[in-house]
Amino acid sequence: MKSLFIVHIIFLLSLYNYGNAQELKSPNGEFEMKFSLEDDGRPTYQLSYKDQEVIKPSYLGFELKDDDTSLVNNFKISDTNTSTFDETWQPVWGEEKDIRNHYNELAVTLKQNKTNRIMRIRFRLFDEGLGFRYEFPKQEHLVYFVIKDEKSQFAMTGDHTAFWIPGDYDTQEYDYTKSKLSEINEKFDNAVTGNASQEQFSKTGVQTALMLKTDAGLYINLHEAALLNYPCMHLNLDEDTMVFESWLTPDVNGDKGYMQAPCNSPWRTIIASDDARDILKSKITLNLNEPCAIEDTSWITPVKYIGVWWEMITGKSSWSYTDELPAVQLGITDYSKVKPNDTHAANNTKVKRYIDFAAKHGFDGVLVEGWNEGWEDWFGKSKDYVFDFVTPYPDFDVDEIHKYAKSKGVKMIMHHETSGATRNYERHMEKAYQFMKDNGYDAVKSGYVGNIIPRGEHHYSQYIVNHYQYAIEKAADYEVMVNAHEAVRPTGICRTYPNLIGNESARGTEFQAFGGSKPNHVTVLPFTRLIGGPMDYTPGIFEMDISKLNPDNNSHVNSTIANQLALYVTMYSPLQMAADLPEHYEQFMDAFQFIKDVAIDWDKSIYLEAEPGAYITVARKEKGSNSWFVGNVNGTTPRTSTIKLDFLDEGKKYEAIIYADAKDAHYKTNPQAYKIKTKKVTSRSKLSHLSVPGGGYAISIKEVN
Ligand code: NOJ
Ligand code: CA
Repeated sequence: MKSLFIVHIIFLLSLYNYGNAQELKSPNGEFEMKFSLEDDGRPTYQLSYKDQEVIKPSYLGFELKDDDTSLVNNFKISDTNTSTFDETWQPVWGEEKDIRNHYNELAVTLKQNKTNRIMRIRFRLFDEGLGFRYEFPKQEHLVYFVIKDEKSQFAMTGDHTAFWIPGDYDTQEYDYTKSKLSEINEKFDNAVTGNASQEQFSKTGVQTALMLKTDAGLYINLHEAALLNYPCMHLNLDEDTMVFESWLTPDVNGDKGYMQAPCNSPWRTIIASDDARDILKSKITLNLNEPCAIEDTSWITPVKYIGVWWEMITGKSSWSYTDELPAVQLGITDYSKVKPNDTHAANNTKVKRYIDFAAKHGFDGVLVEGWNEGWEDWFGKSKDYVFDFVTPYPDFDVDEIHKYAKSKGVKMIMHHETSGATRNYERHMEKAYQFMKDNGYDAVKSGYVGNIIPRGEHHYSQYIVNHYQYAIEKAADYEVMVNAHEAVRPTGICRTYPNLIGNESARGTEFQAFGGSKPNHVTVLPFTRLIGGPMDYTPGIFEMDISKLNPDNNSHVNSTIANQLALYVTMYSPLQMAADLPEHYEQFMDAFQFIKDVAIDWDKSIYLEAEPGAYITVARKEKGSNSWFVGNVNGTTPRTSTIKLDFLDEGKKYEAIIYADAKDAHYKTNPQAYKIKTKKVTSRSKLSHLSVPGGGYAISIKEVN
């Protein structure tokens, strides 16, 4: 399957070596990375692109706990190794059928004077940017160590514009703030307002993937790849010097990472281009992860699903079976003895209706949350409540539902809300996954709402990062696909474990039911959160006035229907939900047709237009077919998007169905106004459409004979 060409050469053209300094060039020569040791033996690197500085000289190293020496200086170069790598691999699912992994590499082995400790820094320079990581080979003088601080710097060349969210250790579910770097501090508290865990911050920090734009029009993205057995990195800014420094999520004791050589850090990534589309196109994050570790991947399939979810998120229906507090609070263990409320969503009758709707319209799966005992205790007084993941409420018959879904050709999707109790989940995991297999479930949406139990740990500390990974790998043993909400933001691990088909780890559609999100939010996410992997964004909302579902909820979905359709293309994910209620889709069957038609796995993706915070237009070719789908999402300013269809095969004829905003549409005042047009097109066609504030368009293109 895989074509693999590894050539180890001393490539004189791309590497210069003079004393304590080394230079590395990207395969196309546009990027140049310089590594050097300062006089005191302190490692530094710098990066340029097309002769422009991207990263000014920046230090690398570590402070260690209980250690006077640390790993910041007094190094000498003991060895350097260069190589070039060029491989094309095929992901199990993805934006592309073939992904090229092409880079030049420099590995500098450093030895610290006196301590004789060895630290290797490995740089990989791609045509899209740089990845580097620290490696600690097996050695005599450094075996077990605790990281006090990682000191990786990213020195900015000026006061760039940034799209950022606060450096919270427990949530990423924020609206993005666009500001100058120099304004982060002043805008920080305002950016935090409204989110839960206000004590748990790196106070001057922002999260990655961080999207930046320089005044000269250079786009820079900072993130990490292959976050394994290590805490998640935030970036702290020194406003005086405009230097970002890595800030690792601490554990309960304030320690950062427990290490045992041989070991390594995740990759730190810097993607840069003068064309914003290249940031979206980059495959650096995936390429810096290890190849697929699962031998037989035939059970991993993209999933389009609906679910009994939006009713609960909007407050129309409840997760809980009863309004009383039964089990823990009242000492009652038998739910059939308590008074049911009349709002419990996960009941046999309603779930069968959803299964019927899924079967009728060709969806693969139905997600049911609130099916298991304990939600009233957890929502009620007991923030320490833990679930067992196998005990259904009396009105949800797992076996009956399984048989019914099977008879209709629909798969049920499991839900495991862990209540943040990671150790409890680990204890129940094998039983819970086995329960899924016994009852016809192949995929689980898991969740980590609330403070982590054990208390004092954070969602992004090393110990909890290891938990998420444990859940993914254990799931693979059971052939279970995972979609983890509130888990650490992804870093391309889905290359190695493609059963990780989704994550939330950002502000998803649910926030549209908690007051709303900024109308341009979806023009930022692909530049930030999606750099690490697909998001279970749960699009497809057609009824924007939430008070129509729940009179006590005045939220408004800040998006037009055409924008919601476009999200299936612009927010790449092999897992796509049609989140709204069947009765809302039934009111707009012509628009719903796009959600039914749109593919979820692709041979090719072409970013046609992009500007963070303003607009994104992408065309994707369906896997194994000649059909294309185009999506455009727009920010807050009305804009005409003009695209050429020159990606279509020359000489062939196609029919395009265009779902666009009506002229008078607007995310706030007229979100449901759209128009649908059918048009004959070829590779010579050019299309122009007005996208209104919070709007966009979606197009499906099929070949006709
Ligand atoms: C928050 C998740 O994002 C949401 O999708 C889920 O339904 C609730 N937690 C309950 O687990
Ligand atoms: Ca969430």
